[in-house]
Amino acid sequence: MTTTPSVLFVCLGNICRSPLAEAAFRKAAAEAGLEAIADSAGTAAYHIGRPPDPRSITTAARRGIDILGYRGRQISPEDYTSFTHIYALDSANLRDIRRRAPDGATAEIALLMDVIEGREGQPVIDPYHGGQDDFEATWADVSAAAEALVARLLTGRD
Ligand code: 4NP
Repeated sequence: MTTTPSVLFVCLGNICRSPLAEAAFRKAAAEAGLEAIADSAGTAAYHIGRPPDPRSITTAARRGIDILGYRGRQISPEDYTSFTHIYALDSANLRDIRRRAPDGATAEIALLMDVIEGREGQPVIDPYHGGQDDFEATWADVSAAAEALVARLLTGRD
């Protein structure tokens, strides 16, 4: 029996990048007919319970995706066993995720852009202090990663 993949996307605030990564992955999985669970979280507690940044909401809406109902949350110890994969949006997030890992963690933890051949080690740059163009660049990165990840999950390479 194969386990349904469950993927948690983690950035710092869970209002800019990781909600877009979650939305892009949901879209790519649905289009490919892949059954998967997706969620997002932040390493920081700044925006718990808050909706995504308005610029992320706009970026998703331009692709016909409604993320208005998403709410910020912080990564928790249970996430390390309830998800099969945890993807960090940048290397600082990756360090924080690894540092907090409880004993018995089972999720595979990696940098999101590592799923794209040739882009290993790259960050999804934080657009928080930028403008709408920076959020469009975030979308380009996370949607490319989402498609690569769905392809990997479909072929059982991850
Ligand atoms: P995110 O962006 O990690 O992509 O959600 C940020 C959101 C908020 C803050 C930093 C980054 N902040 O410092 O409040």
